[in-house]
Amino acid sequence: MRRQLARWFTVAASAVFAVGALVLPAQAASSPSPSVVGGTRASQGEFPFMVRLSMGCGGALYTRQIVLTAAHCVDGTGSNTGITATVGVVDLRSGSAIKVKSTYVYQSPSFTGAENGNDWALIKLASPVTSSSVTTLPIATSSAYDSGTFTIAGWGATREGGGQQRYLQKATVPFVDDSTCSSAYPGLVTNASICAGYVDAGGVDTCQGDSGGPMFRRDGSGSWIQVGITSWGQGCAEAGYPGVYTQVSTYASAIAAAAAKL
Ligand code: ARG
Repeated sequence: MRRQLARWFTVAASAVFAVGALVLPAQAASSPSPSVVGGTRASQGEFPFMVRLSMGCGGALYTRQIVLTAAHCVDGTGSNTGITATVGVVDLRSGSAIKVKSTYVYQSPSFTGAENGNDWALIKLASPVTSSSVTTLPIATSSAYDSGTFTIAGWGATREGGGQQRYLQKATVPFVDDSTCSSAYPGLVTNASICAGYVDAGGVDTCQGDSGGPMFRRDGSGSWIQVGITSWGQGCAEAGYPGVYTQVSTYASAIAAAAAKL
């Protein structure tokens, strides 16, 4: 079984970039139009907390100077000036794109592989993003919102094996309970994972290059709240195989403690 794990580095990501743009019009003829997989293009400002990371992952602004992403997107903990975060735009080539370099990476110290859980990391930026076109995304601190319908978003592949995207893509996916998800993935670490997708039909999912990006929904007051971090899955959007996301509520206190020390 070939599960996840492709990490898209800068070179690969920019190489497929042009291809992605060329492929879009052809795919747009079918319905639903392409995205993440099975989604549509996000509008400018719709998800102002979204971050594109230069190693080919997604993320969300946890604070104006800290990006929450996946542990499998980074190499470890320590000083790191080699990552560029692009924020404030859906079009990565926009002249309004805000680009900020990293200074430090904190990878969950318990991380041993996405399928074992603990798939979260923090990236400290060189300076806070002060632009009003950008907001932070609060994380779920309890399991209260770990069900329902979720939004996923990213610049990753729009089909299994496909190229990275120039424009941010979005889709919605239903929660998949632990027992159903464990049937698809025997041995799933259920407390570390929150699964989502159309198990019977497939067709809508995150895919390679979306990793580290947020899965989110509306909270009780109608504000976005992050419940997941794109982590792994069998292929992309395959029937029978939901997407697996880091269950943010499980790690909320560890994330807060780590961020407070960055
Ligand atoms: N691990 C992938 C990445 O690095 C994300 C895979 C998500 N897969 C899925 N079927 N939901 O971008």
